[in-house]
Amino acid sequence: MRRISLVIMFLVGILGGCTPRTEADKFVDDLMSQMTLREKIGQMSQFAPSTGVVTGPQGEQIDVRTMVKSGEIGSILNLKTPQEIEEMQRLAVDSSRLGIPILFGHDIIHGCKVIFPINLASSCSWNVEAIRKSAELAAYEASAMGISWTFSPMCDISADPRWGRVSEGSGEDPFLAARISAAMVEGYQGADLADSSTIMACVKHFAAYGAPEAGRDYNTVDMSERMFRDRYLPPYKAALEAGAATAMTSFNDFDALPASGNEWLLKTLLRDELGFDGFVVSDYRAVTEMIKHGVAADAKDAAFLAMRACLDMDMVSGSYLSHGEALVKEGLIPEKEIDRMCRNILMAKYRLGLFEDPFRYGGAERYAEAIYRDETLDVAREIARESMVLLKNDGVLPLDDAKEIALIGPFLSSPRAMLGSWTAFRDYDRTVTVDEGFKARFPGRVHVVKGCEAFAEVSGGVNEAVRAAKNADVAVLVLGFPGELSGEAASMTTVELPECQKKLLAAVKATGKPVVVILTTGRPMALESVIDNIDALLLAWHPGTMGGHAIADLVSGDYSPSGHLTMSFPRCDGQIPIRYNHKNTGRPADGIGLRTPGSRKIYQSCYLMTPNSPLYPFGYGLSYTEFVYDSLEVMTPAVHQGEPVRVRVRVTNVGSMDAATVAQLYLRDMVASTTRPVRELKGFRRIFLKSGESQEIEFTLTPDDLSFCRADMKFAQESGDFKVWVGDNSDALLESAFTVL
Ligand code: NOJ
Repeated sequence: MRRISLVIMFLVGILGGCTPRTEADKFVDDLMSQMTLREKIGQMSQFAPSTGVVTGPQGEQIDVRTMVKSGEIGSILNLKTPQEIEEMQRLAVDSSRLGIPILFGHDIIHGCKVIFPINLASSCSWNVEAIRKSAELAAYEASAMGISWTFSPMCDISADPRWGRVSEGSGEDPFLAARISAAMVEGYQGADLADSSTIMACVKHFAAYGAPEAGRDYNTVDMSERMFRDRYLPPYKAALEAGAATAMTSFNDFDALPASGNEWLLKTLLRDELGFDGFVVSDYRAVTEMIKHGVAADAKDAAFLAMRACLDMDMVSGSYLSHGEALVKEGLIPEKEIDRMCRNILMAKYRLGLFEDPFRYGGAERYAEAIYRDETLDVAREIARESMVLLKNDGVLPLDDAKEIALIGPFLSSPRAMLGSWTAFRDYDRTVTVDEGFKARFPGRVHVVKGCEAFAEVSGGVNEAVRAAKNADVAVLVLGFPGELSGEAASMTTVELPECQKKLLAAVKATGKPVVVILTTGRPMALESVIDNIDALLLAWHPGTMGGHAIADLVSGDYSPSGHLTMSFPRCDGQIPIRYNHKNTGRPADGIGLRTPGSRKIYQSCYLMTPNSPLYPFGYGLSYTEFVYDSLEVMTPAVHQGEPVRVRVRVTNVGSMDAATVAQLYLRDMVASTTRPVRELKGFRRIFLKSGESQEIEFTLTPDDLSFCRADMKFAQESGDFKVWVGDNSDALLESAFTVL
């Protein structure tokens, strides 16, 4: 009955002949005029069933179902099955006073049922269209479960592999991450949010969550506004400009104020400057965590700070529901502010079409059709292949001529090592592990030995591995970190290979057999101490459901590796954080090699015993073929401010295999009103060239590409000289220049 009246209201709005915006406004206004203050605050409250008990205004304990029935809950996250979602929706629309549908959210981070490579891996494909497609396919599966909101993309820039959440982002570079973040929003949301196979995206974690001190998750973030604007803001901004319907606050404080109560972040920047008109949700209990941050005395105080900052929805803490009414009655929060926040949420539900049909997402038939489609599996395999990065190859790979393979290591049969973090809906039995991939591609030629656990030796394991290697033509070791060591709350103080794995590797190398290492990891690792024991190194990351097949596709030479790093790989832990786009300093270490203790005469910005350079730089990645870059030409060597700069280069595949590569353009602003990075990525193109084929590529640099947060804090250009490099990594040598007049 209630549902019918909402549908009638919806149709009246449409038949009233109003413009789409006005229809929505009118519908939401009508609905809100019938809502009590508590119901409005209920819309602003999100709960997870596992934490579904909240303390009511009189201190009583209330469970989620009761709240749904009494219309005191706007959104639920983390329901596990389509049936649970449907049941909860039924309760909301049939049993609550106004029948307002629930918004179901979940962390669909890199796939839903079919898991794509972790986001950091996908970013190494530099294939923005494939990433958009994977988000679209993830939305297709998720929406079929009844989910209409994902907490993705994570737009946090980070250059610190100690921080486990680097696995969920797009690496250290703002230019690339901005494009990827925007593409993910486009993929999830499609052209029309009301389409039942698209879902709302959520730009997170606003803001600067990727820069916690010492790489420790949830830790303090403190940086200049300039640094924030230049390096951290671009991906959030791009995702918002792509139309993201929602945003999430971060756990951290920023300039000494937790993001969830930070008026500068949420009002001045997000709403006023960036023009965001969707709704903002807190991270999980981040509102009441302001008590522990030490800026709120209690939950009521925390709710006040968050509401004052225009944080529309409280994720799980329950503080809005417990204290919102009192805050209004005491005059601390004007009711019109509550109306505004509630309205933002109802508008989102309207855009999703939930009022028209609360059950438009989900349904048993659609679910059966939507999950594990061949197209989704094919895209997952393709992007996994494109995400992997060949870091070293002394001629061992590809393995097509190998007779016998000793496949060694702790992760060979581990689906979790293929999947990484945030895979709530995965099925281990649908995940292709490394041994399965190898056995399918090299039937009868694979001898599998575990050798050791991820962090512990197994009795006799090394000896068995050595025996297997001696009996084979090549040893392939799958080493690295297990999937559960990446993601949230997974900070590490060392990213070196665990000791037992180093020992296993050294013993196998001592057999004299060629050694290939396949690295599974959710973060860059520090490999200098082991690199001499490795003849070929393929970085597989956590490659997803089709990971085992994708690895075999590359190892066999059926395809050439084409991924390029989006985070620098340090030599050792002490270099962390490390990034290519650093500043020059007043004492740059250019030209200084490794120095010995005692030779400290040259007071320059470097370490005593380690070079500044990473083991593998940003943008780096080898191929089975060879690409030559030449004929670099700036076609507009002198331009006025506001005019585009055009740069041309020729790329030739001079090797014998058809393959893809990523052409990258870097800039340096030689003299500016603030210190500028030594190099900044400002263009890239993933291209496929047949053996012997050449292609001319043209890059157009827009005025925005040349702009930055100037000394006067304006984002704008300055006149002066620029250097430009093009090549296949951030150390590219092919150089030219131009001037902005
Ligand atoms: C906490 C995480 O920080 C956030 O990324 C996630 O979306 C929420 N929990 C919900 O699961």
